[in-house]
Amino acid sequence: METKTVGVIGAGTMGAGIALVCGRKGHHVKLLDANQAVLDKAQSYLQSILTKDVEKGKISEQQKNRHTRENESRLGHGTAG
Ligand SMILES: NC(=O)c1ccc[n+]([C@@H]2O[C@H](COP(=O)([O-])OP(=O)(O)OC[C@H]3O[C@@H](n4cnc5c(N)ncnc54)[C@H](O)[C@@H]3O)[C@@H](O)[C@H]2O)c1
Repeated sequence: METKTVGVIGAGTMGAGIALVCGRKGHHVKLLDANQAVLDKAQSYLQSILTKDVEKGKISEQQKNRHTRENESRLGHGTAG
């Protein structure tokens, strides 16, 4: 499968979920939010889900580490287009 870079503006409920789905598929994810607390919460959420994925044998520890290493989250305002 071709690896794509996916930009997600907004790291709230929907954005964190979209980042998770795209990351699980092996895409590089760039997550942006105007609120640092939301970004921090999204990172904690992603880490907890990926840890559970490893425990359940859905992904390897290596895949989890790659996901953590290659995906970025950044503070800022985004615009579509
Ligand atoms: N949550 C749901 O079940 C659901 C379902 C369908 C559609 N939606 C829609 O999806 C969108 C997001 O919903 P949500 O529940 O994730 O909201 P949310 O409030 O949890 O998260 C939205 C985040 O986007 C950030 N944000 C907004 N504009 C930004 C910008 N220009 N640059 C950077 N960050 C920005 C905010 O800081 C906030 O953290 C909304 O339009 C909502 O109506 C949500």
